[in-house]
Amino acid sequence: MKILGTGCASPSLAVTNKMLEEFLDTSDEWITERTGIKERRLMTSEHLLDLAVEAARKAIDDAGMTAADLDYIICSNVVNEYSTPALSCLIQGAIGATCPCLDINAACAGFIFALDMAEDKLRAGKAENILIVCAEEPTRMVDWNDRNTCVLFGDGAGAAVVGRGDAMKTVRLTTSSRKEVLYQVRRLEPTPYLDGEREFAPLVMKGRDVFKTAVSSSTADIKAMLAETGIDPSQVKYYVLHQANERIIDSIRGLLGEQPEKFPHNVERYGNTSSASVPILLDEMSRAGKLSKGDILVMSAFGAGFTTAGCILEWTK
Ligand code: COA
Repeated sequence: MKILGTGCASPSLAVTNKMLEEFLDTSDEWITERTGIKERRLMTSEHLLDLAVEAARKAIDDAGMTAADLDYIICSNVVNEYSTPALSCLIQGAIGATCPCLDINAACAGFIFALDMAEDKLRAGKAENILIVCAEEPTRMVDWNDRNTCVLFGDGAGAAVVGRGDAMKTVRLTTSSRKEVLYQVRRLEPTPYLDGEREFAPLVMKGRDVFKTAVSSSTADIKAMLAETGIDPSQVKYYVLHQANERIIDSIRGLLGEQPEKFPHNVERYGNTSSASVPILLDEMSRAGKLSKGDILVMSAFGAGFTTAGCILEWTK
């Protein structure tokens, strides 16, 4: 597998910490100090599908292709307005592709899970060009009266077109079932036969627990991948990490004993956009000319599940 093109899209409205102070018992100072986030993008007139389609079109264009060249679409998504059909089906129609498609939900680690699935399809000779779209609206999962959670998230979409190559040096996926640290129970339609009341709740998060698990698991994944591949840290150009919290990124960097310049971030502008965060950052880096052919990138993401995913990828564009 190798990456052929990337794209991203964000809602037009930027919501600053100061804007949150107007209705929440919070402050720009608290949010900045604890998370590094200064603003996040939130949907107003847009729908998530609009962002997904924009990101997809940019990635296809960047790869020098048309939608007709795609033979598989994987969409990483936790929630969107439609329970069914899958968001990937709606994207397929909107961009004018005709290939099979499916959605996956590996929470914030979804992009790397999707890269791994794409790698398998390409290796098996079942596809030539695969579109991965990570489109997320976590701001629709949180209670906007809960300062513990709503300040952390933003909406967005990131996409990549991948094709055959040997850029993927290793992948590491882990899942440990620990619902209690991060979950949302959505409301489903009642039936006349259900026993008892079914509860639903906006996002519930044990922030400190998530923080510690994210830091320890991501650091362990990165060390294990470097040891497995024999890649020396000095050969790594960038660590492209899930953008949940600048302090999480800093803690991982500290444990790896690495330089800040190797840890690009945009969490200050977008907040946590779930699985879209890694491809959005990758696309911004690519378009800003920060990536060169042959660069070794270490990616790592973590989220609800608890799920982690890491990979080492050579930039080949
Ligand atoms: N504004 C002001 N105060 C806030 C606040 C906000 N937005 N959110 C929480 N607080 C308060 C808490 O109520 C608590 O007050 P108390 O001591 O009176 O009870 C205090 O700040 C400290 O909370 P604490 O949980 O100890 O802070 P923290 O240093 O752990 O930071 C997080 C909280 C959520 C920023 C941090 O734990 C975190 O980032 N966790 C990971 C979250 C994450 O990334 N989730 C998604 C993973 S994919």
